[in-house]
Amino acid sequence: VTLILDNRDECLLVQEIAEKLDKKALVGFRVSGFAHQGIKLYSRFGFDIEQINEFITAYIGRGKEWDLLECEGLHFHLDGYSASQRSSALLQCINMATALKQTGYAISFIDIGGGILMNYLQDKKEWDTFGERLKQAVLGMGEKVTFNNDGLGFRLEDGNLVGKLETYPFYNELNGPDFVRDILDSKDETGTPLYRLLKGNDLEIRIEPGRSLLAQSGITVAKVAHRKKDSNGNWLVGLEMNMSQLMSGSKDFLLDPFVLYDTPQREGPVDVFFTGAYCLERDILLKIKTVLLQLPQVGDLVIFVNTAGYMMHFFETEAHLFELSTNLLYERENKSPLSPASFRNDAELSRMAKFRGV
Ligand SMILES: Cc1ncc(COP(=O)(O)O)c(C=O)c1O
Repeated sequence: VTLILDNRDECLLVQEIAEKLDKKALVGFRVSGFAHQGIKLYSRFGFDIEQINEFITAYIGRGKEWDLLECEGLHFHLDGYSASQRSSALLQCINMATALKQTGYAISFIDIGGGILMNYLQDKKEWDTFGERLKQAVLGMGEKVTFNNDGLGFRLEDGNLVGKLETYPFYNELNGPDFVRDILDSKDETGTPLYRLLKGNDLEIRIEPGRSLLAQSGITVAKVAHRKKDSNGNWLVGLEMNMSQLMSGSKDFLLDPFVLYDTPQREGPVDVFFTGAYCLERDILLKIKTVLLQLPQVGDLVIFVNTAGYMMHFFETEAHLFELSTNLLYERENKSPLSPASFRNDAELSRMAKFRGV
């Protein structure tokens, strides 16, 4: 297994483990800070592209401080979904890999991470209309399309619309395999496509698709708990779930849910907002207004589709394999000095209390 390293401390850690195991560790280095259209792309991850060559040649390999690290490749994962930024980053990595090969490092791969765009909408018009109507609503010039007129990133400053939409870009013409092809087909300054440079330099390309592997999969289902009209005249449909079960990095999950109506009626369309079960005002499951064929009844099922990619996993699971944190109860008897023994595991105490029938 190749380990991708992000910083010096990780190099030290892997070197120590390799020493203990008396083995070599195959590693790649995460790189960031690429130049793109005259700006430097910031990332909190990785080694700076301007310093990585110097760093590797100074510390990594035989006779150097971290001699058990065998550098096999370079890696990046960029924030956002720009194909052209990825092309710039890939070209800079190819150049870096070629330079490192010339100094004796057996670089065999470049890993371009994830961020492969997907498309979730049938029609561009849907997306454009939504964007326009959202902006108009924030400007106070049209019907509100979100709860409390949330701009989802847009806001008014001195009467001017500022900011940008901070949701996943749900409509994308360039998506999936075409997105990757676009990166590999892009050219360097001599007009040579990047895939040719990779082939010519015997460099394997690797990808780490996350969301794109899970497109068109996963549903999240919740029962309707209640319906009510708020003081603004909005229908609120309360579900047996909460916001962290439909939460990602995106300001809102804009895809329309489906409702399984137990008793179909002919009421005509109704605008609703879905609300969650937390005691927080902000527990609004979808900030976007949903238009339904009819008002759901208590017990009807609401189905959010395409939720396998991130829609709760950071908040409701042990996504990074750390155990969920434990609540400790502090009991300090007889003014004894503070020690770990003064703390007891709350969950265990309640389990014991249950067992004793308390
Ligand atoms: C290092 C790395 N690789 C791959 C991915 C997957 O990205 P995506 O789900 O956008 O494809 C992530 C997601 O944050 C990541 O941090």
